[in-house]
Amino acid sequence: DGPAPNDVDPFALVKKDLAPFSDSIKELVETENPVLTAAAKHFFEKRHGKRFRPTIAMLMSRAVQAGGAIDRDVGGAMATPMPVVDPLRYQRQSQLAQITEMIHVASLIHDDVLDEADTRRGDLAVHKLYSNKVAVLAGDYLLARASVLLARLENVQVVEIMANALDALVQGEIMQAKSSAKDLLDLGHYLRKSYYKTASLICNSCCSAALLGGYTYGSPTTVAAEKYGYHLGLAYQVIDDVLDFTGTADVLGKPAMADMTLGLATAPILYAAEEKKELKPLIKRRFKEQGDVEQTYKLVMGTEGVERAYQLAVFHAQRAVDAIASFPPSEAKDGLIKLAHMAPVRIA
Ligand code: FPP
Ligand code: MG
Ligand code: MG
Repeated sequence: DGPAPNDVDPFALVKKDLAPFSDSIKELVETENPVLTAAAKHFFEKRHGKRFRPTIAMLMSRAVQAGGAIDRDVGGAMATPMPVVDPLRYQRQSQLAQITEMIHVASLIHDDVLDEADTRRGDLAVHKLYSNKVAVLAGDYLLARASVLLARLENVQVVEIMANALDALVQGEIMQAKSSAKDLLDLGHYLRKSYYKTASLICNSCCSAALLGGYTYGSPTTVAAEKYGYHLGLAYQVIDDVLDFTGTADVLGKPAMADMTLGLATAPILYAAEEKKELKPLIKRRFKEQGDVEQTYKLVMGTEGVERAYQLAVFHAQRAVDAIASFPPSEAKDGLIKLAHMAPVRIA
């Protein structure tokens, strides 16, 4: 019997796996241009953040390797052989974790340009440290290097799945930039956008971890991994939006109330608007008039909006746990469960 999920530190479990991570990324993004190299490396040095996504990818890689119980139980066409722990497999799964973080960081560097955000991970954003041009190139460059690393996995299915994740990231940004007044009020639109923006990368990375672990696409293990990533990603984004609303820049390491400033209505506001219809015109005009942001904040705080958004995150976190319920017992599985339980309470 391993420790109960509550005693597990999911980040500590894979810390060793991720230790060579920054160094090899830094080597990988070395260019002849010192500014570009520095900009691309920026978030892999001291400010490496929580490494949430690579942690999930590594835990999933280990959890699916713990045994093939569910696939073996199903039998028939869906069954895949129980994977053996294989060093090459493990190396590829670690590379997947790196690729996932590189894509994420590239998207953040670009995101801060698009959002005109000055800070990230408690430091200046790359475009503020250097310039917009350098930030655009540094993001592109990281993506290019991530693509090379992806090709080296020699798995066409994984390449396609991760390429789809990239596509989704861009789709999410487009949805956000082009939302109509009707879209802005629509919780379904908000959730689809959240899937594209956040859940897709986590979900596709989890699915890829299972594929690299030797499971076939569509097998119970692969589907479970994908579902886990989908629900955890949604829980994570909803909480991010709650924190944007309730947190302070100090704690978040990035500006608070950024969403409303960008004209975006997130879960707490959308739920609040069901109770207080007077929020609808403010949402539709993207909080653009003098005092709109403050008024919205006051109105939302007088509703169940924040609590309902929080409960939505709890719901998805629980669905993530349910998705991997039939995985064989392992420390990595406990880590994944703990991560899901942590998602709704994380501070930043
Ligand atoms: C953060 O959201 C942004 C993302 C999760 C995705 C950004 C994607 C792009 C800019 C498309 C280009 C993609 C690549 C791979 C270069 P946010 O602005 O809501 O969150 P924040 O508060 O952390 O800024
Ligand atoms: Mg942003
Ligand atoms: Mg953004």
